[in-house]
Amino acid sequence: MNKNQVWNFALCVLFSLAAACGSPDATAPKPVQLDAPHLGLIPAPSHSNGAVGTFRVAATTDIVYSGGEGAVGVAQYFVVLIKSQRPDLAFRQPKENTPASGSIAFVLDADEKGQGAEGYSLSVSPKGVTVTARTSAGLFYGAVTLWQLITSEPMQGLSVDVPALRITDAPRFAWRGVMLDSARHFQSPEYVKGFIDWMALHKLNVLHWHLVDDQGWRLEIKKYPRLTSVGAWRVPAGQAAQDDIDPATGKPRQYGGFYTQEQVRDIVAHAAKRHITVVPEIEMPGHATAAVVAYPELGVTNKPPKAVPEEWGIFPTLFNVDDSTFTFIENVLAETIELFPSEYIHVGGDEAMKDEWHASPRIQARMKELGVKDEHALQGYFIQRVGKFIDSKGRKLIGWDEILEGGLAANATVMSWRGVDGAIAAAKAGHDTVLSPAPDLYFDHWQSPGDTSPGRSNTLSLKDVYLFNPLPAAIAPEQRQHVLGLQANLWAEFMRSEARVTYMAFPRMAALAEVAWSPPERINW
Ligand code: ACM
Repeated sequence: MNKNQVWNFALCVLFSLAAACGSPDATAPKPVQLDAPHLGLIPAPSHSNGAVGTFRVAATTDIVYSGGEGAVGVAQYFVVLIKSQRPDLAFRQPKENTPASGSIAFVLDADEKGQGAEGYSLSVSPKGVTVTARTSAGLFYGAVTLWQLITSEPMQGLSVDVPALRITDAPRFAWRGVMLDSARHFQSPEYVKGFIDWMALHKLNVLHWHLVDDQGWRLEIKKYPRLTSVGAWRVPAGQAAQDDIDPATGKPRQYGGFYTQEQVRDIVAHAAKRHITVVPEIEMPGHATAAVVAYPELGVTNKPPKAVPEEWGIFPTLFNVDDSTFTFIENVLAETIELFPSEYIHVGGDEAMKDEWHASPRIQARMKELGVKDEHALQGYFIQRVGKFIDSKGRKLIGWDEILEGGLAANATVMSWRGVDGAIAAAKAGHDTVLSPAPDLYFDHWQSPGDTSPGRSNTLSLKDVYLFNPLPAAIAPEQRQHVLGLQANLWAEFMRSEARVTYMAFPRMAALAEVAWSPPERINW
């Protein structure tokens, strides 16, 4: 039975409508009941209504588009997507045309009102399918919905019958993010692109890319080649170092990797075609060990670390606050900004232990010169100074919630990770905020109790993610416009392989997608 038949049959059983119950195909025409299930769609659409009949999709179905460049890209993506899963539905190349009988039409219409910047409407009738949106992002999401509808139905020979319906849909939140940690363990550019594809199929739209940490610097910076020739390499973590000794040197083999600027451009362009923004993170003033190993003059002490560490934890190494270090940071950010068109640039800011600053006569003297009262205020000075540079390039600073501690420029955005307190404080102070709290959205936790594989051992189940409340009561209604959205974090200390990243991401990423996209009344475990 297809979904249409299943529902007719279920209604028969429920209401004992004897006339309609002989066989599921014997029902009189009436609208399919769509509201109870999610139509198999994840994330659930805001509104859906069943209509009468079905539309038969076959390889001969015309795919048409109108409204310009954005519509062409969506129609082509749809054709590739369907064919990848249903080779029997290898449509012809999309053609520019208005919706016609028997076609699937993608209509970009600047005058389309009502669904917001990322919304769309989708109508399936026995005569054809039309997806309409004001923006190419909205049209893209409509195409993803249609892909899910078509591929969740069984093939009937060489075609698929899609139930008639009407969907109007738009996301609840503008920031629907996942953070991928490529610093602790490196993933190949091909993997990152595939990960972006999976995000797109869930209508997730921000890849926060954690490119820099104590254990690795993964972004090629032309002005500072040692960041990657030195900072991207270390011995493998744990037993792996003992298990993989290089016979030539008798030492553990080097582990690591980095993304060339050409690879980054390719990844960013791949993401843009899927309406995903890649937000780069360059960590400061802490999580700086790899950078300081590469360029010891950036550090604070006379005994800078000599090797990129292969173990986890919070490391004491900080950047110093010399003008030359800010010049380094600005040069790095200038190249980063060239590569990533994202409105937001993430500067980390978390877990910067202040011991080195506290113990350094040079830093203490500089604090006096600057009139800065303690090390927390110095972090405030640091982040604000970098924020001014980011502003000067027409971008916006975002950082982990510690950036609130030393005073913050009004336009900075706060990513709340130590629970939701950072988000509550940020919204109260008038800052925009993204919720990515530990442990609620930390996907390095086990998915089920009794798991023995590497990972943080307190469990974060699929259901826990699904029932996460993205608007805590402590954020007053008038401050809620500051909540841009939410994000899950894939910290990769315990994700040594790409397969492990995938395993930890799914199916929890599907739950995240529904919480971030669907209206609260559609959240139903
Ligand atoms: C973090 O988990 N240190 C942001």
